[in-house]
Amino acid sequence: MKKHTISSIKKQKNIQALTMITAYDALFAKLFNNIADIILVGDSLNMSFAGKSDTLSASVEQMIYHTQAVCNGAPNTFVICDMPFGSYTDKNSALSNAIKVYQETPADAIKIEGGADKAELIAHLVDNGLAVCGHIGLLPQAFRAEGGYKIKGKTAEEETSLIQDAQAVEEAGAFCLVIEGVKADVAAKVSKSVTIPVIGIGAGKEVDGQVLVFSDMLGLFEDFTPKFVKKYIQGATLVKDAVQNYKDEVQSGGFPEDVHTY
Ligand code: KIV
Repeated sequence: MKKHTISSIKKQKNIQALTMITAYDALFAKLFNNIADIILVGDSLNMSFAGKSDTLSASVEQMIYHTQAVCNGAPNTFVICDMPFGSYTDKNSALSNAIKVYQETPADAIKIEGGADKAELIAHLVDNGLAVCGHIGLLPQAFRAEGGYKIKGKTAEEETSLIQDAQAVEEAGAFCLVIEGVKADVAAKVSKSVTIPVIGIGAGKEVDGQVLVFSDMLGLFEDFTPKFVKKYIQGATLVKDAVQNYKDEVQSGGFPEDVHTY
């Protein structure tokens, strides 16, 4: 599979739905390479990888470390690095942190949470040579400010402001955007209101692609399962059964066998 570029991603709109998946290390990234269109090194790694209860304490250094690992594992895949909470509070810090990501990793793009309120900042990054993916709707980094994870698009005002957000992000120069936790009919209207691909998570099917956190869709993360997650395998059960088998065979002397022995 040929690695995507900004222009090939944009061209997918209305042609073929894009498949985005998160990865945080080279091991899994290698398994997704040549299958996924885009790998997102999401700050969700702070929860599913580092075991924290939200994404807010992820750091730029942490994102760089994991993005390097993912790029090593998936050299043929377009990789987006999520800019963590607090790393883009103003245009100057956003630019210096994004440049740090570009200089220390081969990431193809970065992602910023926010809509019209972040348009000027996104334009500044794009003007300085960064490729930016937007993120509107439910914003995990606003979780404390909003008092929880709130589904968006439930009122006419929210619908209007989501469409304005998407259009502002597009106008600022973003090449695509993630829409999270939005009523499906509203996400469909948002997708139709812009010419860049709109990748949904918990936003129904009438968008231009889907993104899932890999540990959710592989059934590895057991703490909770959001409604929008489909578990394609029961990963946690498979892993735990395998480790239990290993332990049983170590204790019974069934492992190692002759074939595993020098
Ligand atoms: O951090 C992340 O994994 C994300 C996805 C939920 C889109 O931003």
